[in-house]
Formats: sequence, C-alpha cells, structure tokens
Amino acid sequence: MESTARLIIDGKTFELPVIEGTEGERALDISDLRKETGLITLDPGYANTGSCESSITFMDGEKGILRYRGIPVEQLAEHSSFRETAYLLINGELPTEEELNRFSEMLNDHSLIHEDMRSFFENFPRRAHPMGILSSMVNGLRAFYPELPQRNEKEEINITFTRLLSKVRTLAAMSYKISLGHKVVSPSHRLSYCANFLNMMFDSPVRPYAIDEDLVQALNVFWILHADHEQNCSTSAVRLVGSARVNLYAAISAGIAALWGPLHGGANQAVVEMLQQIYDNGGDPAPYIARAKDKSDPFRLMGFGHRVYKTYDPRGCIMEKMCAKVLKKLKRKDPLLDIAKRLEEVALKDSYFIDHNLYPNLDFYSGIFLRALGIPLNMFTVMFAIGRLPGWISQWKESIDDPQWKLHRPRQIYIGPKERDYIPIEEKS
Ligand code: ACO
Repeated sequence: MESTARLIIDGKTFELPVIEGTEGERALDISDLRKETGLITLDPGYANTGSCESSITFMDGEKGILRYRGIPVEQLAEHSSFRETAYLLINGELPTEEELNRFSEMLNDHSLIHEDMRSFFENFPRRAHPMGILSSMVNGLRAFYPELPQRNEKEEINITFTRLLSKVRTLAAMSYKISLGHKVVSPSHRLSYCANFLNMMFDSPVRPYAIDEDLVQALNVFWILHADHEQNCSTSAVRLVGSARVNLYAAISAGIAALWGPLHGGANQAVVEMLQQIYDNGGDPAPYIARAKDKSDPFRLMGFGHRVYKTYDPRGCIMEKMCAKVLKKLKRKDPLLDIAKRLEEVALKDSYFIDHNLYPNLDFYSGIFLRALGIPLNMFTVMFAIGRLPGWISQWKESIDDPQWKLHRPRQIYIGPKERDYIPIEEKS
C-alpha cells in the first residue's frame, strides 16, 4: 500500500513517500528532501537511517529474528554447511547438488596463495595483529590478481568471489603458522572448506592433525552464524568504500579494518580478555557489572548489547549451546564458560541491563567456542572475518548491481567558526 507522510516546515507542508519492505518495515523516503525543503536529516551513527534497499538478510531486533534470503538462521545452522550458506547469500538461492559441486571445485582450484605473497608475511613484525595483516594482504591480492570483474561477466565475477572466499581462509591459517615460525600447510583437495582450515591451522609434521567431523560441523555452524548481518559497521564500510567503485579487494579490506574494532567484531577477543580478568581476580562478576553501569567509567560489558537486537541475539543462543557441545565432545571444562554464565545471570537480573535492553550478543560465547577449538586469542576476529566474507561479497554485489546506485556521500551540519579572515603568522601575538 502506497502512502505518504506529511512534514510541516515553517508552515509549509511537504509530502514524503512511505515505502514498505516485504516484512512490513516502513521508511520515509527522504531522497528529495533537501531539493524540496533545503533541509537535511541529522542521525548520528545512522541509527534511524536506511542506507539501501536489500534482499539479502532480514533481522528483527525486537523479536530476535535473523534470516538469510528468507531462511531462518536456526535452520541453516542445523541443516546447511558454510559453503552452501555462502552460495545462498551470494546467489540468492540454495544451490542444486551440481551447482554446489561446481562451487566446491572452484573453492579448491583457487585455494593456493601466490608464493611471492609469502615474503609479504615474513616482513610484518612478529607482533603485528592478524587483522591488520589480513586487511593488508586482501588489498594486496589485487596486485596479484588484477583481472577483476570489469566487464561484469558472471563467470569472471564468480571466480573473484570464490578466490576471495578460498584464499582468505588459506591466508588466515598461513599467518598463524608463520607467526609460530612453523611450516605452512597447503590446502588439500581431499578436504572440505572447514576441515581444510582446521588442517591448515593444526597439522604439523610431528603431530598429524586428526580431522574430527563433529568439530568440522561446529566450525560450519560458527561461520554460518557470522555469514551476514545486514548493514552493520563493516558491511556499511564495504558498501561505502565500494560506492566509489574501487575494486572488490579494496572494499573487503576496508570491511576487515572496520570489523577489527572492539565495538564490532573485535568484541570476541575483548570478551575473553574480560572473562579472563574476572577469573584472575577471583571470579566475582559484580565489580565489572558495577563498572559497566558507572557513567564516569568508559568500561562496557563486552559481548553485551547490540544496535539492533533489543532481546536475545538468536546467534548468541546457538553459540552458547555449541560451546557446551564442543567442550563435552573434547571432554574439557573451561572456567571462563562458568564465569560467562554467572555474569549473564547477574546482568540479566540487574535493572540497568533490563532497562537498557542489554542482552548477550553473538560475541559473548563465540570466544569460548574458539578457545575450545584451539584458535589463539589474536585470531578470533580473523575467524569472524572469514565467516562474514559471503555477506560482504553479496552486499557489494547487490550494491553494484543496484540501478539506484549512488556514491555514498553523507552531509553534515557545520558547527565550526563562521567566516573569518586569514591572519599571517607574524601578526599573531
Ligand atoms: N555495557 C554497559 N552499558 C552499555 C553497553 C554495555 N555493553 N552497551 C550499551 N550500553 C548502554 C550505553 O552506555 C547507553 O547508556 P545510556 O543511554 O544510559 O547513556 C545505552 O546502553 C545505549 O548505548 P549506545 O552505545 O548508544 O548503543 P549502541 O546501539 O550504539 O551500542 C554496541 C551498540 C556498540 C554494540 C554497544 O552495546 C556496546 O558497546 N557493546 C559492547 C561491545 C560489543 O559487545 N560489541 C559487539 C556487538 S555485536 C557485533 O558486532 C557482532
């Protein structure tokens, strides 16, 4: 149903179209607002601003719903693989068996890293953060694979997407091995996408890695849960940088840089650091809850709160169950899981967290899961980045195919000094 909203400015009435999405979300179309009224809107952090129309991911933050291309994330986590979910996000439909086999073949064919790229790795300082390295290396891929999709040919574009999905996984494992000073393990055509990653991370000539199908499945779920989340900070970075029509590698590299931040993907590392601190200080979460509530203290409870979810993050619920499952399978206990549960219990009964609608998000339990798999702390956000790649790629693809595409260029309300004259330095006292 087409409708309009009326806006009255200085006694004059303007009509704004109201547009509606397939799930009933409504928005005011303000694209002609400045032209018609001379005014712009001001929305710090874009909390009320839709930057695009998208058919990839739907989320309802009040009801705790997340769907990729219409399919609930819970169903994908239970029945799909990361590979299949990546295909769904990028192509819009679940693949046939033949399409999935072709996709797997392409992932395998493009999994090797150009030998010359290794010298890049070796020149990063040993203590460099893997997210900084990954962002640089992905940008570097452009120099090694310059034949980017300029002619918009489907096969060529698919090769670039597959190359990224496959090589980023290899680069991540490679950076870990190099940081240890160990021999790099090559990808194997015998292994699936997730099994290959675990093997490249943990296989060694002195301790061959035994693939455990339950852990492979758990990693599939972990990456499915991270695969897309509509217009979050890093995805918006990919779309914004991509809107200048830079190449895909540069846009993804910007997304990786944005994801690194502790308020975004970096939260999975920050959560475990926080839980470890609580543990080291005797295990009582109360002082941390008190700090999080204290407005004079910048400390925040990491892994809590979300811009969109004002209830449980559906991914967090799956993640919590996965932690317990994997630890059981490995016959291991993690004291940080007990601390996390205690912290969650206390926070969810506290009026501050209730009034602010602050619930555990995906990152609250994901770090504990990654620890159980043996992933080192500084690689946690890299694991998030590998998972988010299909989302970044599909959002970039959707944006360049969008007939309404525009260079992203927000405006501002200037609050600096009014016009004044230049004063030569010698006249300044
Ligand atoms: N601990 C304590 N207070 C919090 C927290 C938190 N984790 N999160 C939000 N608040 C409070 C704020 O202090 C603010 O309080 P006030 O209104 O009384 O001043 C209120 O809740 C709203 O906070 P904003 O920062 O305006 O909310 P926003 O939507 O911008 O924040 C964010 C979302 C950044 C995720 C925030 O909740 C946060 O910093 N969480 C911790 C970091 C984190 O876990 N990030 C991962 C997010 S999920 C992801 O990227 C995969």
